[in-house]
Amino acid sequence: MSETLKIGLIVSSTRQERFADKVLAWFAPIAAAQPGWEIEVLDLREAALPFFDEPVPPAAKPVTAPAAQAWGEKLEAMDGFIVLTAEYNHSITAVLKNAFDYAFEGWKRKPIGTVGYGGVGAARAVEHLRMIAINFGMVPVAGGVNIGGGDFGALMGGKSFADLGPHLEKSAEGLIADIDWWARAIKAAKAA
Ligand SMILES: Cc1cc2nc3c(=O)[nH]c(=O)nc-3n(C[C@H](O)[C@H](O)[C@H](O)COP(=O)(O)O)c2cc1C
Repeated sequence: MSETLKIGLIVSSTRQERFADKVLAWFAPIAAAQPGWEIEVLDLREAALPFFDEPVPPAAKPVTAPAAQAWGEKLEAMDGFIVLTAEYNHSITAVLKNAFDYAFEGWKRKPIGTVGYGGVGAARAVEHLRMIAINFGMVPVAGGVNIGGGDFGALMGGKSFADLGPHLEKSAEGLIADIDWWARAIKAAKAA
């Protein structure tokens, strides 16, 4: 094991009764147990970004809103990201899109993966997220977790992740392996 990787777990729903907390409570310990990983939860509720209002795109000039400056600094400290993503009307949440729009350097050339949840495991939101991520030169990884269908229904109905069997953990392992591989490869390339 070489260098420690800093991986940001982004919580992308901010509503009061969010299901995201249940997903975070399940996934964060799995990610934190990965050797060589240091996890930081980046909760968009805490980031409290205003609705985008900058004179020029953050790709062209540093942002002026203090909350966005703090957000950008957090992103820049990370080697990769895993987004816990709901699906709102077949896409990502508006607050997550706003959080993408409000930064540039912090996203650039880093791997990104997803733990999606919803009727179809947030599959449509995940595809949108991948397209957005490409604009930042990010690497959307192939592995991912989709908590959908009967699993999502069972969890909504009060079941726990432990009741569902090991298949979601298997998906989580694949996601973590992909993020780990790309984060190390990109870090080495940047250092060279
Ligand atoms: C505005 C809105 C739009 C939604 N659209 C979808 C959708 O397109 N597909 C889906 O599977 N679920 C959809 N849902 C249901 C969500 O999957 C469910 O509410 C989930 O708990 C949202 O995640 P959160 O509780 O962490 O915010 C939607 C929910 C909201 C609030």
